[in-house]
Amino acid sequence: MPTSDPLRAFRLDGRTALVTGPTRGIGLAIARLFANAGARLVLADVDRPACDALAETLDGISLPTDVGDARALDRLAEQAEALSGGIDVLVCNAGVAGPASPMHAIDEADRDRLYAVNLMHPIRLTGLIAPHMAARGRGSIVLLSSIAGLRGTSHLGHYGVTKAALAQLARNLAVEWGPSGVRANAIAPGLIRTEWADAILSSPERADRRLGLTPLRRAGSPEEVASTALYLASDAGGFTTGQTIVVDGGTVISDGS
Ligand SMILES: NC(=O)c1ccc[n+]([C@@H]2O[C@H](COP(=O)([O-])OP(=O)(O)OC[C@H]3O[C@@H](n4cnc5c(N)ncnc54)[C@H](O)[C@@H]3O)[C@@H](O)[C@H]2O)c1
Repeated sequence: MPTSDPLRAFRLDGRTALVTGPTRGIGLAIARLFANAGARLVLADVDRPACDALAETLDGISLPTDVGDARALDRLAEQAEALSGGIDVLVCNAGVAGPASPMHAIDEADRDRLYAVNLMHPIRLTGLIAPHMAARGRGSIVLLSSIAGLRGTSHLGHYGVTKAALAQLARNLAVEWGPSGVRANAIAPGLIRTEWADAILSSPERADRRLGLTPLRRAGSPEEVASTALYLASDAGGFTTGQTIVVDGGTVISDGS
């Protein structure tokens, strides 16, 4: 479609986006950028006061939710669809790292919580929302994976398993729902400046070692992940589905030299 505005394809006017984990870090950058792109936001964070406050700022709908709770996800999907008139874009962003530990030594409750938040939440929520998107003939699903799902690790093994599984979930959803006009993709960020990354970046020694492995020699910003999410959510990414886009300053393509 010819247009005089080259950025028009990135607009989300008239669309509703449900974002999980939107009150800080990458999710906050996504919520702000999507609002600026014209989307109406439905916000689902476990931090109720922060979720309510953000919804007020962005003129969105606050549905505080612990995404690690299956029944709470059922309520979220039902209310989000009913209150908004239909979700066009679903971003499953909420995630936890879990404790650093070899895989066999992790506490069982910590492990189950990690899988509930990082993996079962996107599986369940996409399963609840995608059929509605398909019935309307369009939709875009964006999953927050990680480069930890692309490489082996000795201390965040279960985290890596959940993130690798999200890349496969994006492929499966793309194949299942593509014929109905629904796209599904994942983003695999590298080290991004959020509270999450503070542990690494606040230690000069760890920061030097970690950033030395990254060709751009810096951590990314939440906004640099959000712009990729906007591409995938909008018509700009209209022919992109089933992909995992790596946003890591070149970390995984480098031999570390
Ligand atoms: N920051 C990084 O370096 C990095 C790298 C790769 C992937 N990621 C992924 O990106 C996503 C966001 O990471 P971030 O760094 O912005 O994290 P963050 O910890 O800064 O923010 C996480 C957000 O999710 C919310 N949240 C946590 N548990 C929740 C739950 N059970 N229910 C609802 N909301 C919950 C938090 O309140 C917060 O708003 C995660 O899935 C993470 O795995 C981050």
